Amino acid sequence: MDRYLITGASRGIGRAIAIRLARPDRTLLLHGRDKEALDESCRKVSEKGARAVAVAADISSVEGVEKLADRAGSDKLDVLVNNAGVAFVEPFEKITLEHWQKTLAVNITAPFVLIQRLLDRLPRGASIVNILSVAARTVFPNWSSYCMSKFALEGLSRCLREELRPRGIRVINIYPAATASGMWDNIEGNWKRDKMLPPAEVAEAVAYALERPASVLVEDINLGNVTGNQ
Ligand SMILES: NC(=O)c1ccc[n+]([C@@H]2O[C@H](COP(=O)([O-])OP(=O)(O)OC[C@H]3O[C@@H](n4cnc5c(N)ncnc54)[C@H](OP(=O)(O)O)[C@@H]3O)[C@@H](O)[C@H]2O)c1
Repeated sequence: MDRYLITGASRGIGRAIAIRLARPDRTLLLHGRDKEALDESCRKVSEKGARAVAVAADISSVEGVEKLADRAGSDKLDVLVNNAGVAFVEPFEKITLEHWQKTLAVNITAPFVLIQRLLDRLPRGASIVNILSVAARTVFPNWSSYCMSKFALEGLSRCLREELRPRGIRVINIYPAATASGMWDNIEGNWKRDKMLPPAEVAEAVAYALERPASVLVEDINLGNVTGNQ
């Protein structure tokens, strides 16, 4: 039975990835904070025959990430998807230290600690998938804390990719443009959801990369909307 861990799987892109990757020969550890939403993700994954395990942990603290790593158990892990993320969109002068630090904690420190804690459970042939963003390579006014975190995660994951090649572990980076998830509910502005990618398309890209033979590394996938991105 293959074991997958997906962070931020209680909603949005993470839930879509969980549903897409669900199969009867897989156990999916689904992480988030909102227990009700996580149960709903587990229900959807179970409908596809996979074994679903909800793991609730707030990963804005290192203790929370350690708890998640402990709950992931000591068995081998075939796929780790670092998807959980936050975005505070505000002019530079208005960025609070609290928002800055939360962005660093969830978007950077959590994947760093989680990968480090779980790495010895990843066998040859395993994969780490990082959900980055176009904002890992492109800048936008008012998005500096988010861009900072995604640029940093890109640097971390590209170095890690080179370190893990000899061990036969793939590091796959996904760069979606604006995607129609609840993330946009908290971002000021008139964002047109019908111009955004559906979360299921991001999940499809993840599945494509993971389904290649273990010797094939799909390094980066950029995903945009043909009529233009926001
Ligand atoms: N939406 C976009 O346009 C877009 C585009 C490119 C990349 N991305 C990236 O895609 C990833 C998923 O985003 P999304 O759009 O699906 O956002 P979303 O709908 O807001 O979901 C975010 C997920 O992250 C989890 N999360 C956030 N803070 C957490 C914390 N402190 N502890 C534990 N879990 C936490 C949430 O869990 P709970 O709700 O259970 O707390 C939720 O499952 C993020 O890394 C985001 O940067 C998004």
